[in-house]
Amino acid sequence: MEDIKAVQFENGRLKLIDQRILPARFEYWYTDTEEGVFEAIRTMIVRGAPAIGGAAAYGVYFALRESGNDAQAFIGRCRHLISARPTAVNLEWSVLRMMRKAEECGYDPDTLLEEAHIIVREDEEMNRKLSEIGLQVIRRGDTILTHCNAGALATCGWGTALGVIRSAHESGLGIKVYADETRPRLQGARLTAWELKEAGIPATLIPDSAAATLIRDGKIDLIILGADRISADGDVANKLGTFALSVVAKAYGVPFYSAAPTSTIDFSMKDGKDIPIEERDADEVRMIEGVQIAPEGMPVYNPSFDVTPHENVTGIITEKGIIRPPFDKNIERIRNGENL
Ligand code: MRU
Repeated sequence: MEDIKAVQFENGRLKLIDQRILPARFEYWYTDTEEGVFEAIRTMIVRGAPAIGGAAAYGVYFALRESGNDAQAFIGRCRHLISARPTAVNLEWSVLRMMRKAEECGYDPDTLLEEAHIIVREDEEMNRKLSEIGLQVIRRGDTILTHCNAGALATCGWGTALGVIRSAHESGLGIKVYADETRPRLQGARLTAWELKEAGIPATLIPDSAAATLIRDGKIDLIILGADRISADGDVANKLGTFALSVVAKAYGVPFYSAAPTSTIDFSMKDGKDIPIEERDADEVRMIEGVQIAPEGMPVYNPSFDVTPHENVTGIITEKGIIRPPFDKNIERIRNGENL
């Protein structure tokens, strides 16, 4: 399979796979402005925590070019980028890293562009590494449940949860996958199912509400999914529905893993209670593919993410090792540069 690259830079422009229209059409979407990157993140042309971080890095480069010598204008554009989506910490992490670099290098655009390339390269490296490490938790013939899309499309290369799954498949472990469709944006049905098919991994798509029955009936050996932000005590914010899965998994003794690069850990956030949860447009729930499925004007609650308490998490697979309980102590070790 040709490598899927969600975030690329070509001829001075950011080149994104347009994830709104997959799998019906595979098309690239281009921008060379900060506003364009902001819109791409907000409208989910690019989505998935690490991919958003990668795209935003180029947004900071464009912001610098657009701001000339006006430091306040540059900071304003960077803040604007951070505001595109609130939950995935990788966005803020990447913009702040780029801003620090800008200061360090005297606002040199070429250095800043190189830093964006480095962020993208490092993300793929971290994902490949954590995917290898993740093999420790998979046994031959396992059936794995995943939620949303934490694949190559959601990152700057290879994938996190789906990266572990791809590595297991390529290692000949004979795994099988169940993919939740992931209402309302259907990242599981549209993106994960597409990636699994492209990679030739045996997989079955299920409505989200079928997962509990499969878990109860002993059909799932383990759950692996991604993360948008992990607090210092190991609480995991991820796509809506993750928390419910964790509760059922705990009730039936099924191991529950999150896979994420350490750039997804927010060391400054004590626990998951303060993680900002994005609420998206009501029409994402009232409509499917532009077709109205609920009464006009029906009130809707549409949080895009939820927080899974660390008590429900078996482990967090990172490029620095698998973080297991006690999460706070082990996350602190990662913060101090240790590998686990
Ligand atoms: O709303 P999305 O599609 O950006 O949400 C994506 C997820 O929740 C992913 O699981 C998470 O970002 C990890 S991606 C490696």
